[in-house]
Amino acid sequence: MTSRLRPPWIIALVTLLAAALGVVPTAGRGVARAADAPYKDPSLPVATRVDDLLSRMSLDDKAGQMTQADRGALTTVSDVAAYRLGSILSGGGSAPSPNTPSSWADMYDNFQRQALSTPLGIPMIYGIDAVHGHNNVVGATIFPHNIGLGATRDPDLVERVGRATAEEVSGTGVDWTFAPCLCVARNDRWGRTYESFSEDPQLVTQMTTIVDGFQKAGNASILATAKHYVGDGGTTGGRGQGNTELSEADLRAIHLAPFKAAVQRGVGSVMVSYSSWNGARMHGNKYLITDVLKNELGFKGFVVTDWAGIDQLDGQTGFTANEITTAINAGVDMVMVPNDYKKFISLLKQEVQAGRIPTSRIDDANRRILTKKFELGLFEKPLTDRSYTSTVGSAAHRAVAREAVRKSLVLLKNAGNVLPLAKTGGKIFVAGKSADDIGNQSGGWTISWQGSSGNITTGTTILQGIRDLVGSGAQVTYNRDGSGIDSSYRAAVAVVGETPYAEGQGDRTGSMGLDSTDLATLQRLKASGVPLIVVLVSGRPLDIAGQLDQWNALVAAWLPGTEGRGVADMLFGDSAPSGRLPMTWPRSADQEPINDGDGKDALFKYGYGLDYTVPPPQSPPASPSPSPSPSPSPSPSPSSSPSASPPAGGCLVTYRTNDWGGGYTGDVTITNRSSSAVNGWRLQWTYAGNQKITGYWNAVVTQSGQQVTASNASYNGTIGANGGTASFGFQGTYSGANATPAAFTLNGAACAVG
Ligand code: GLC
Repeated sequence: MTSRLRPPWIIALVTLLAAALGVVPTAGRGVARAADAPYKDPSLPVATRVDDLLSRMSLDDKAGQMTQADRGALTTVSDVAAYRLGSILSGGGSAPSPNTPSSWADMYDNFQRQALSTPLGIPMIYGIDAVHGHNNVVGATIFPHNIGLGATRDPDLVERVGRATAEEVSGTGVDWTFAPCLCVARNDRWGRTYESFSEDPQLVTQMTTIVDGFQKAGNASILATAKHYVGDGGTTGGRGQGNTELSEADLRAIHLAPFKAAVQRGVGSVMVSYSSWNGARMHGNKYLITDVLKNELGFKGFVVTDWAGIDQLDGQTGFTANEITTAINAGVDMVMVPNDYKKFISLLKQEVQAGRIPTSRIDDANRRILTKKFELGLFEKPLTDRSYTSTVGSAAHRAVAREAVRKSLVLLKNAGNVLPLAKTGGKIFVAGKSADDIGNQSGGWTISWQGSSGNITTGTTILQGIRDLVGSGAQVTYNRDGSGIDSSYRAAVAVVGETPYAEGQGDRTGSMGLDSTDLATLQRLKASGVPLIVVLVSGRPLDIAGQLDQWNALVAAWLPGTEGRGVADMLFGDSAPSGRLPMTWPRSADQEPINDGDGKDALFKYGYGLDYTVPPPQSPPASPSPSPSPSPSPSPSPSSSPSASPPAGGCLVTYRTNDWGGGYTGDVTITNRSSSAVNGWRLQWTYAGNQKITGYWNAVVTQSGQQVTASNASYNGTIGANGGTASFGFQGTYSGANATPAAFTLNGAACAVG
């Protein structure tokens, strides 16, 4: 793991200088006597430094290193020193006030100075759930949750997401993220489905590149955590913290595989799962933690419990000496207590002194923890590297997030190639509870543990993204519940789905359909007859088969985070959909669990996803064949028969296309240069290639062979004199070239081409 050390040449120079002066440099506190302990010498091998430090540690020191307390549980900051705490954490939403990057850094440095003030000066390590960006920090870049990253099928992108997150985390001082979740979600009822990259262990394994993103970020490197070990996504009924009932062979094949990959990448820590395997709580499972993870897989980092995870071992609230002994002897190295750290330390020491926990186990745990602290460079550079603080929410990181959003989107239906929408012309209606809600589009684990609807942090909502992209090219009307929609709009975009949740609060044991608010909005939009594009913001596949036929298009957007512009990019063709389902999409909730290869008849199979360029796959999944293209929205018929050829002075036509290699949209503007108005118009042209128009707006466009005729709508039949204009648009498909027509006639008279 690349440490956060200063460049090697500086270390060598300082070391040489120090040797010449007979002093040893130590971090953060100037120089110290050469007689200082070897563990403070960065030029020595880490193992040597660990051995030396361990030999100097008392039981108090060792017990403290194995204790992690939540920042909010500290009676006083000086307890960090008094109890020799090895680690502090922020549980979901546990933040300083004000919640700004610099106040996080100040808080971190304050805790660290307490740790450094102890006799041995062992730095503490600070952990946090940076699971889709530095999501506890207001203003941080929030990336798509893992389910969306899995849909990208892009391990390199996911590594870049990790690196950007590491830089923002480092900028606030924090050294350790409790991510990635390498959970393999096998039942979408599970409230943590969105924390999973996929139902497929191989895809989850591919996404372990994020570990490198976290741990190989140069001076911004942070410790990663593979969690939750093991089988958290395989519980019966998808129950959070439930029981995974599998043979060992299946447990290994489905749930262990990604952890093996993470260990091979050198992941620094592993967090134990609350769940049980065949009735045995994971937090006490010595076979899987020690024999398999540490010995068989060769994991050299340290194992941390989940939040108060050992409390569940005896089924009673709180923790006991026996639970501590069971967990530590099973192979747990650090306990996320996180509240009563004084009682924990007292009982742990008691159990060691009574011989129920061997000293060798305590030393092994400390060796593992200290090794990671040395490798991270915490002894040389224990305080915040403020050079990264300004990266929090930076434009560069938001650009990575926007790319991730674009690539995460899965196009599930596109009848009549209604998407992409033209950027110019006519009116577009946007509706839905999640269209203008940064909290909904970010989901759980955002600013607070559960997340929340509303304007909770800095970013771009999907609506704002649409407005920014379209600009003055078209009128964008928004109404949350769809009120005000009518047939004068060329398209309606409905952004609906789930409101934020985390962990057990997200378990769905009953319906998995849309809520009544969304259904009412969709019904209102549908009644207008306008083409309906549904964007689903959810942490999992939902039960939407019953409504699908009423929709012209469906995009699974998952939980995109702060960069909602990425959704607009795809809707309007600035990016083409490339996402593929990371989870099988059920035909109904009672099919759960439903996974690739289980023989069930899915609505959309694992891996499904449409492009803009290629018609649906030759053998589409056993799903309703895409409903026949609905007749284009009933555009108004021409108000009057076209007038005679425009008088002298003629007309000018501009014809612009937006191509994506097989599909395209066209925008046409007719300018009447004559001194007389045109009342009723018909524009005609002939294609040289095999362009086929499939949809249109602000005109009625018909095609016979290569001959195209566009006739005015009821509201734009008059083109004023001396420069008046009329515009319309369309979309179509083609193969080979998509050449601009050479000539246009307006009511039979030739126009100039602009
Ligand atoms: C939670 C989660 C775990 C998280 C930890 C600290 O309960 O299960 O994923 O890392 O506590 O917030």
